[in-house]
Amino acid sequence: MKLILLGPPGAGKGTQCKRIADRYEIAHLSSGDILRAERSAGTELGQKAQSYMDSGRLVPDDIIIGMMIGAIKKSPGGYVLDGFPRTVVQAEELDKALVEAGEEITGIVNLQVSNEEISGRLTGRRSCPQCGAVYHIENLKPRVDGICDMDGQALVQRTDDAPEVVADRLKAYHEQTTAVVGYYEGRGKTVIDIDAAGGIEEVTASIFSNLDVLCGQVG
Ligand code: AP5
Repeated sequence: MKLILLGPPGAGKGTQCKRIADRYEIAHLSSGDILRAERSAGTELGQKAQSYMDSGRLVPDDIIIGMMIGAIKKSPGGYVLDGFPRTVVQAEELDKALVEAGEEITGIVNLQVSNEEISGRLTGRRSCPQCGAVYHIENLKPRVDGICDMDGQALVQRTDDAPEVVADRLKAYHEQTTAVVGYYEGRGKTVIDIDAAGGIEEVTASIFSNLDVLCGQVG
């Protein structure tokens, strides 16, 4: 299965992509996680991306497209894309690469949630700097406060979860990413809208029931 998960910052894309990847045994390819790993490793790509990410702006398409198409080529067994494509240009370039490889996207899941709900999710988010596991101080607590269940690392708050940066990330989403849904609908792709305002388990159940049907359709 080759899936795209769309949705605003804090909609739960990372949380749900991990569950989708486990259930359908496909790779979870997160553009944000890959960029953060490049930054931690101090690579040239990571350095170029840094100022954009810290200010809540999108990293330029030419940096992102090569990075993500490279990751896709390394995942022949299927994947769920998290945070990519985020502009129509990125979606067009992804399409070109898929056509060249004789492949196509199986389906697109679009998480829908209000700006009000998002701000509480992002201010309460804590992440593991080592393995990328994501928690929430109220909605998804680790077993020991402030410590990752997976590897015992101290959890951190993302710098781009500061309220003023969240406002800019939401602006970038509404100005540049909502058009990606229309792009796929215009090409007759299956776009599954999911109400992501409910709790984590409820949203997972809704996604799985839709994807199980999609899986059955594509065999
Ligand atoms: P990226 O890392 O992709 O961030 P984002 O899209 O803003 O999404 P988030 O990771 O903030 O949220 P999420 O939807 O994954 O939510 P999560 O599951 O963590 O991008 C960061 C930056 O990188 C961008 O700003 C940009 O600069 C750059 N970038 C990345 N991709 C790019 C691209 N393609 N083009 C250009 N630039 C790019 O959940 C959030 C919190 O809520 C967690 O604490 C979680 O526990 C909790 N939660 C989740 N679901 C629920 C629920 N249903 N109920 C209650 N709490 C919930």
